[in-house]
Amino acid sequence: MADVDSGSLPVIAVTAAVGAIVLLLGLFCSVIKSRDKGEREDDNSSSNKSESKEQSRGDKHSKKQKSQPRSKKAPQVMFSHPWLSSSLKGHSGRVLSFDFSSNGKYLATAAEDRTVLLWSVKEFNQKEHKVIRGNVEYDHATHVKFSPDSRAYLVSTSVENALRVYKIGKKDDGSAGNITMAVQFEKKSDAEIINIGIASSGKFIMTCHSDTTMLIWDLKGDLLATIDTHQMNNSHGALSPCGRFVASSGFTPDVKVWEVCFDKGGNFKEVARAFELKGHKAGVHSFSFSSDSSRMASVSKDGTWRFWDTDIRYQMGQDPYLLYTGNFESPLHSLISLSPDGRTVAIAADTSVTIFSTGTGEKEQSIDDMHSAPVTWLGFDLSNRYLLTAGDKHIHVMHNVAGYKATIVDLKEKEKKATSQAMKERIRQQIEEARERLQTIMGEANGTAVGK
Ligand SMILES: *[C@@H]1O[C@H](CO)[C@@H](O)[C@H](O)[C@H]1NC(C)=O
Ligand SMILES: *[C@@H]1O[C@H](CO)[C@@H](O)[C@H](O)[C@H]1NC(C)=O
Repeated sequence: MADVDSGSLPVIAVTAAVGAIVLLLGLFCSVIKSRDKGEREDDNSSSNKSESKEQSRGDKHSKKQKSQPRSKKAPQVMFSHPWLSSSLKGHSGRVLSFDFSSNGKYLATAAEDRTVLLWSVKEFNQKEHKVIRGNVEYDHATHVKFSPDSRAYLVSTSVENALRVYKIGKKDDGSAGNITMAVQFEKKSDAEIINIGIASSGKFIMTCHSDTTMLIWDLKGDLLATIDTHQMNNSHGALSPCGRFVASSGFTPDVKVWEVCFDKGGNFKEVARAFELKGHKAGVHSFSFSSDSSRMASVSKDGTWRFWDTDIRYQMGQDPYLLYTGNFESPLHSLISLSPDGRTVAIAADTSVTIFSTGTGEKEQSIDDMHSAPVTWLGFDLSNRYLLTAGDKHIHVMHNVAGYKATIVDLKEKEKKATSQAMKERIRQQIEEARERLQTIMGEANGTAVGK
């Protein structure tokens, strides 16, 4: 109960009663039907709060809520923006994390409502979104990651603070979406899990914890290695999309990157220091890899974000090159995400998201009040077309307009350098396609149909 100080006793009693009824109704509804599409803007906000960590995440938001009368609960913010493609509605609790399947087709979202929902990327542009629902029994998932073959997903749980694997199978009638728990990992650390990962090679799993521990597991749940990051407290940990590296940031002004090595027979060999991002002047909030790990981005308490060339021969002692330093002032914990192609970077702090082009370092867009609570997760889809954000019950799917623009600039450079006429022609065609996409997006935003 967060708002005890703002109300007298009767108000609390009424609130509790209303809360109980809403909860019961909620249960009732979910029993008779699992119809969750849209139109559920404010029916669950009180039942969520009881189990949410909302208050611990961002102070600005909770203060806003406190100043409002209890009877008028903060409604779900109706967010709109010219770059918004759609909002995914289906969860009845705050969404904490999401992941895209490696085949680019699916999105998995984990929320405090004890479910993981699977969405189709193809339907992002549509008004209606079908979902496949997976339950997280007696707990809720704090993080979710698809297995490399897209036929299972891994979650970390909140209460248990451990890992579970769920299989995405077929129902008896042959239709998709029979989600069943396959493995429950034994807990090996009490410190809170702050991120998880599965290597795209399928060889190992990573958990990063809130102390200085990072654990490397095999897929059956046996521990392969324990890493002490020596960063006072970890603020972020990640497994690179290429599947070779794990990295961590924390209280110290660096990002440490390790390579997880296997021998020719596929047996685990060692975790070896690879390289470090050095140059920030204070602790690093978070960092992100491009899809092939040739670029990285980081955001720090020192008021800057940095863009790095990590396409290096670290075995020969080469260090990453700093390509760009940009300003990003925020006293709050910030999340950074680099697009798979490395052309766009998005940074979230509180309920705002700022988007930069990495080519020029320029700020492309700054969007406030994206969610009714601080952003918990953000990331680009594998085709670089969308940027997704989570922070409340809805997930916003934004067109990656900055990415299209950067692509056009890049292609124009390539066109100049192209040696053959055929190559020039092909590049021109790609430029034209990107332009058309942009025009369509901006046309829709203006509410006008763009003709040719
Ligand atoms: C899901 O699969 C299991 C076997 O793995 C089966 O026993 C069960 O009936 C299936 N559930 C549904 C709803 O089809
Ligand atoms: C670091 O983590 C430990 C254990 O999770 C926690 O007790 C401590 O308060 C943290 N310290 C800082 C500086 O965040």
